[in-house]
Amino acid sequence: MAQNIQRFQGKIALVTGASRGIGASVAILLASQGAQVILLARNQRLLEKTDDQIKKVGKTAILLPFDLMEIEKINLIGQAIYERFGRLDILVSNAAILGTLTQLVQITPEEWERVLKINFTSNWYLIRALDPLLRLSAAGRAVFVTSGVTRRIPAYWGTYAISKTALEMLVRIYAAETAMTNIKINLLSPGAVKTDMRKQAFPGEDPKKLKNPDEIAHAFLDLLDQDCTLHGKTIDLSLFNPANKESIRIYD
Ligand SMILES: NC(=O)c1ccc[n+]([C@@H]2O[C@H](COP(=O)([O-])OP(=O)(O)OC[C@H]3O[C@@H](n4cnc5c(N)ncnc54)[C@H](OP(=O)(O)O)[C@@H]3O)[C@@H](O)[C@H]2O)c1
Repeated sequence: MAQNIQRFQGKIALVTGASRGIGASVAILLASQGAQVILLARNQRLLEKTDDQIKKVGKTAILLPFDLMEIEKINLIGQAIYERFGRLDILVSNAAILGTLTQLVQITPEEWERVLKINFTSNWYLIRALDPLLRLSAAGRAVFVTSGVTRRIPAYWGTYAISKTALEMLVRIYAAETAMTNIKINLLSPGAVKTDMRKQAFPGEDPKKLKNPDEIAHAFLDLLDQDCTLHGKTIDLSLFNPANKESIRIYD
C-alpha cells in the first residue's frame, strides 16, 4: 500500500473526460497513488462527484469545468498549469463523444465539426499547449485514448472512427517528434467498457458482459509511470483480463 501511495506522489496529472466513465476511474486511481489530479470535463456536478471519490482516498483534486469545443481557449489551460505548478507530469487525454451512428451522407456539417473538434482537433491544441510543460517534467507521460474501430472499416461509425484514426496519426507523429526527449507518449484502446458511451453505442447489450472502468484503469498507470519505456505504441485492452498481463496487446 505504502509503495502504491508513493508511485505517483508529487506528480501533476491532467485527466480530460474525468467527470465519469474511464476518465473518472483513472483520475481516482492516480490520486489514490499520490498524484495531484486536475479534472477536466463540462459537467461541474459530475466533476464534484469524482472529487468526492478522490477525497475518500485522502486527496483533493483541482476541478476544471471546460468544454473542449472551445479549442482556442486550450492554451489558457497550459498557462494556468505553468503558473501554478511550473510543469505537467501526466496527461490523460480521454474525453470524447460518439456522435450519431449513421451513414456518412446523413451526418450534418455541425455534427461532423463537433465530433472532429472534440475527438481530434482538441488533442492537437492540448499537445501545443502542454508539450512545453511535459518537457519541463523529469519524466513527462501522455496517454491518448483511442478505439478498436480504427482497425476496422465500420459502416455508420464514420465521424467517430475517422476522428480516432486521425488522433492515432497525430499521436504517432508527436511521439516521433519527441523520441529524443524524456517524454513517453502512447495510445490506449480500452476495448468494451461499461460506460455511458458504450450504452449509447450498444443500447441493447447486456452490461454484465462488459469490463468496469475501474478494471482497466490500472492498465493506464503502467504507461504513466516514470519507469515506462514504451513510446509511440498502441496498448490494446480489448482482450484484457486483469488476472493475465499477457492479455494486453501492444502494436506499433
Ligand atoms: N466505453 C467504451 O467501451 C470505449 C471503447 C473504446 C474507446 N473508448 C474511449 O474511451 C474514452 C472514454 O470514454 P467513456 O466510455 O468513458 O465515455 P463517457 O462515459 O461518455 O465519458 C466521456 C467523457 O468525456 C467528457 N467530454 C465529452 N465531451 C466533452 C467536451 N466537449 N469537453 C470536455 N469534456 C468532454 C465527458 O464529460 P462531460 O460530458 O461532463 O463534458 C466525459 O467525462 C473516449 O475517448 C472513448 O472514445 C471507450
